[in-house]
Amino acid sequence: MSNLWSGRFSKGMDRLLQEYNASIPFDHILYPYDIKGSIAHVTMLAEQGIVTHEESRQIIQGLEEIKEDMDKGKIEFNIEDEDIHMAVEKELIKRIGDVGRKLHTARSRNDQVAVDTRMFLKDEIRQIYGLLQELGMAIVGKAKENVDYIMPGFTHLQHAQPVTIGFHFMAYFQQIRRDMERLLDCYKRVDCCPLGACALAGTTLPIDRQKTAELLGFGDICDNAMDAVSDRDFIVEFISFSALCMTHLSRFAEEFILWNSQEFGFISIDDDFCTGSSIMPQKKNPDIPELMRGKTGRVFGHLMSTLTMLKGLPLAFNKDMQEDKEALFDTVKTVKSSIEIFTALIKKTSFNYNKIASHLEKGFLNATDLAEYLVSIGIPFRTAHELVGKMVKYCEESNIKLEDLEESDLSKVDSRLSGVTLPPLDNLSCVKRRTSLGGTAPQEVKRQIDKALKFLEQNPFC
Ligand code: ARG
Repeated sequence: MSNLWSGRFSKGMDRLLQEYNASIPFDHILYPYDIKGSIAHVTMLAEQGIVTHEESRQIIQGLEEIKEDMDKGKIEFNIEDEDIHMAVEKELIKRIGDVGRKLHTARSRNDQVAVDTRMFLKDEIRQIYGLLQELGMAIVGKAKENVDYIMPGFTHLQHAQPVTIGFHFMAYFQQIRRDMERLLDCYKRVDCCPLGACALAGTTLPIDRQKTAELLGFGDICDNAMDAVSDRDFIVEFISFSALCMTHLSRFAEEFILWNSQEFGFISIDDDFCTGSSIMPQKKNPDIPELMRGKTGRVFGHLMSTLTMLKGLPLAFNKDMQEDKEALFDTVKTVKSSIEIFTALIKKTSFNYNKIASHLEKGFLNATDLAEYLVSIGIPFRTAHELVGKMVKYCEESNIKLEDLEESDLSKVDSRLSGVTLPPLDNLSCVKRRTSLGGTAPQEVKRQIDKALKFLEQNPFC
């Protein structure tokens, strides 16, 4: 029996159970944080006179050497070690002997795993924020290039009103901006140090939690030891951010897939993001955006699994909580790669402006603008709506467009229209007139772009 906790046991664990129980196959990636946390802990123990400075020095040196060897992949992780915390401690004792047995003074794996996970997530959140900044820049870049290019805007996937491509992209940007804000808000609650909570109730030894929190760069300290070891809200919150961010990416992906279809033909997705068919030689399928849409489902699954894992747990630590790791790690991996890939996808996508222009001919996109023109000459909106509806019907029957209507047609449509001269109804004129705050007029989209760039330039982490 080689476990560090095996004093009260009379036999070792069966292999099948060991495998079931162990988290080392996945939590080994926490080793840099585990070692950093241990170094801060023992530094504090020495300053508080709980271990000697010489003991602390030996422990720190041992831990640094273990870190180097782990970095080089020289240490094999073993299922018998159960988890990364045990693996590091055991290795330390193997290397420096009995003095290593002092490291775990005034600490439990319960506060240890919480501090490791929080440090890991803080690093990941900073990286993800940076990736979102790059995605935001790519979206705004496309918006800027396309501030004057018109496309159909849709509701119910039916032609609605003309908008600019720049405007459509700035709508994407708003989703990402909110994701960034949510991520920053989540960071505040991750940035809270649980170390020193021990198993659940604190310790009789004179530790200094302020010191370890400071050494580890935490902005705050978990205020209640029992909560500190039981809280996984911060993981749920992060996965919830991720689920929403993936939802946004999935919606973009869906539009890219649609726009890339023969039916739309608005964009051409670069070859890099597509694969061919094993049977149909002509095919170029948009696999990467499809996968992004698909992978969103697994992040939703992780959100549900962590919520469900927590919902029936009595305080404080329960082994169920070990199940948070794979959900968290896979979420981090999925959301990071999806953001990075979508950034590249946006940058490399080209617009087929002629094809887009040909779609603008269909669907009476300028009907609302015409109704608003009638309002501007004193006709109540409900009446204007009815009159333009009649004009659309007339145009459909005569196979013409609203802008082709002559004065004689107008009086045929409705006597209330006699004497009315229509304004310019080409799509560009319509778009330019929609200058209301948040509207699609190029000057208004430029304002949104300037504001977005200012937001993206901020670095909230320094
Ligand atoms: N491997 C465990 C986890 O991931 C570490 C904490 C174990 N604590 C305990 N009392 N068994 O959650």
